[in-house]
Amino acid sequence: MSSNLINEIDIVKANTSKISSVDFENLTFGNIFTDHMLICDFKEGAWQKPIIKPYEPFMIDPSAKVFHYGQAIFEGMKAYKDESDDVWLFRPDENFKRFNHSAKRLAMPKVTEDIFIGGLKAILDLEREWVKKGKGNTLYIRPFMIAIGSGVIAQPSTQYRFMIILSPARSYYSGEVKVIIAEHYSRAANGGIGAAKAAGNYSAQFYPTKLANERGFQQIIWTDDATHTKLEEAGTMNVFFRINDTLYTAPTGERILDGVTRKSLIDIARRDGIDVEVRSLLVAELIEAAKDGSLKEIFGAGTAAVVNPIVGFSYQDNYYELPKMDNSYASQLKEKLTNIQYKLAEDTFGWTV
Ligand code: COI
Repeated sequence: MSSNLINEIDIVKANTSKISSVDFENLTFGNIFTDHMLICDFKEGAWQKPIIKPYEPFMIDPSAKVFHYGQAIFEGMKAYKDESDDVWLFRPDENFKRFNHSAKRLAMPKVTEDIFIGGLKAILDLEREWVKKGKGNTLYIRPFMIAIGSGVIAQPSTQYRFMIILSPARSYYSGEVKVIIAEHYSRAANGGIGAAKAAGNYSAQFYPTKLANERGFQQIIWTDDATHTKLEEAGTMNVFFRINDTLYTAPTGERILDGVTRKSLIDIARRDGIDVEVRSLLVAELIEAAKDGSLKEIFGAGTAAVVNPIVGFSYQDNYYELPKMDNSYASQLKEKLTNIQYKLAEDTFGWTV
């Protein structure tokens, strides 16, 4: 198959739309999907013609590698609508690059820009009505790739399915977020797949996060697997710590996901004169700062979560509450970021597409 497959895309439209049955004011994250989905299969060493068709379940052989070895990757992106009804993406090139980085790490084929970005634009064009105006309304975009080749031999598949599904979304967390600092379990290790958006990175967190949930905490802040002394990232977002007026966030690398929201916040903060140190903060420094009152804020940053303040954390069974801040860095940065995303402020960085 040749490049520019997107020009040959087949579009099969749904006969009816579900949109009128959706309560856009009361959405639980990731539960409702739009009328169409994009599918593009890889076989015999090449990507095939993509198709956009009505959203529906599909069949895969029970021996497909995705079921047995978890050969699966994904991305999280959002579309926003401005006051003139134009639909915008935020730094889609970053998600495209990261997707192929994940694909390489999981021994999956690279997706072409034509299929990823071109396919995204084609399906969004069809689903524009699902992107609602007004800050807080978004259409969450979930591109993913799964190994659909059959056979339980533990080898990379020779057949893959790339898909894009879309889900109208407002906030990811519905209430306050309290976290536990990891002391035993780990999210990632050097040489592992922590920097990839691999499905297994998320399922591996489900059990420790369930234990945290049972204790009344929503998330875990992961620490380095070797010593559990360095603060890394939370389950669904990167994390920032504010001590006095400096923001700290861990460097990305083999264990930490290179979050698009994270890197955008660093750029916005630095542009506006906030001191940002990209280094691993030690758990000991965090506890000391919590005790002496210099710890002002902790917040998570991610596409789904946007900028989410953390109200308190637990470490070695001691609970530390964060102070309530007026004009917090979290609220300032969230406002500035979302103003760019919704085209309410000039995008001096050139991030919106
Ligand atoms: C996102 O923020 O888009 C993510 O991919 C995290 C996901 C677990 C909701």
